[in-house]
Amino acid sequence: MKTALVCGAGGFIGGHMVKRLKDEGYWVRGVDIKQHEFCDLPADDFVQGDLRDPEVVARVIDEGMDEIYQFAADMGGAGFVFSGENDATIMHNSALCNLNVVHEAVRKKVGKIFYSSSACVYPEDIQMETSNPGLKESDVYPARPDSEYGWEKLFSERMYAAYHRNFGLEIHIARFHNIFGPEGTWTGGREKAPAAMCRKVAEAEEGGEVEIWGDGEQTRSFLYIDECIEGVRRLMESDVMGPLNIGSDEMISINDLALMAAEIAGKSIRLKHVPGPLGVRGRNSENTRIEQKLGWRPVQPLRKGMEKTYRWVGEQVRES
Ligand code: NAD
Ligand code: GDD
Repeated sequence: MKTALVCGAGGFIGGHMVKRLKDEGYWVRGVDIKQHEFCDLPADDFVQGDLRDPEVVARVIDEGMDEIYQFAADMGGAGFVFSGENDATIMHNSALCNLNVVHEAVRKKVGKIFYSSSACVYPEDIQMETSNPGLKESDVYPARPDSEYGWEKLFSERMYAAYHRNFGLEIHIARFHNIFGPEGTWTGGREKAPAAMCRKVAEAEEGGEVEIWGDGEQTRSFLYIDECIEGVRRLMESDVMGPLNIGSDEMISINDLALMAAEIAGKSIRLKHVPGPLGVRGRNSENTRIEQKLGWRPVQPLRKGMEKTYRWVGEQVRES
């Protein structure tokens, strides 16, 4: 039986990965500083511990473990990562998790490791227009991410690559482009736009107002969680180190995302534009490389994922 450690198993993507690996017959240990808020994890073992502590990391990584999935990070949507107020803690906390995990993975001769990087590594100056044609993996240099969160991701990408070169560790790196779906953060300040729009629409009266940060013309692409997990598993089974984009290339404005949520809900709403953290003006994933390297790319329409997400967020709103 293959063994895997999922770091950040108490979070959104890590929780879904635990379920997927269990479905595939793995023995799975999860580790997170907190319990999962939205589900009972089917992990064989779960350690509540802080990956900034090297002793915890040494305890959760077994000698010769087959695979590690490193999702643990101090992370959130625009309200968390672009406000500027959390820059130091994001860099400190996420870098420490990565420094400890990659080092121990080599010491314990782990088979392979996945690292979750982000579209936030790409330079700000090629994301100034709403009509972004798509960010290619090679666009990352010369580097100029627009957030400290992005700089930490880029540093860690390079660190994993260095451990591969110097110690022969098998690494696989993906740059996620805004992943969404059920069992993701939907309130509290760290939620990303899809969950935020679902929540605001679910809370709105018929004909009521929904607040959008900025003019709402800023664009993004959003990838449903099932395709994210599929992409990661395919990357891990391949001989491709990456970094590869794992993202949708269906770009949409935030205004249209809110209207899509309202249409799914069967409500008419009015958009109210208010000041808020914005991030880049336009972002989209370019998927030529993943198609070439893995013979696979995400294809599911955004609307399908939003329907499932609205249903789940709506339940959370009703139960809260
Ligand atoms: P998440 O916040 O739901 O999950 C991250 C988990 O890491 C959380 O449960 C958190 O408690 C845990 N964690 C943080 N610090 C820790 C520590 N010191 N010790 C142990 N656990 C700790 O986020 P997510 O959306 O599941 O993202 C997973 C990974 O993917 C992150 O590295 C994130 O930066 C990256 N990523 C996500 C997206 C996205 O849109 N969700 C986009 C790009 C990159
Ligand atoms: N979260 C949120 N909530 N965003 C809103 C809202 C709202 O109520 N209203 C408008 N927006 C706008 C934001 O201002 C931003 O321009 C856009 O929606 C997208 O916001 P998010 O989904 O929060 O984040 P992001 O796409 O800018 O960045 C996220 O994705 C990266 C990967 O693509 C972050 O989660 C990063 O941490 C992640 O790495």
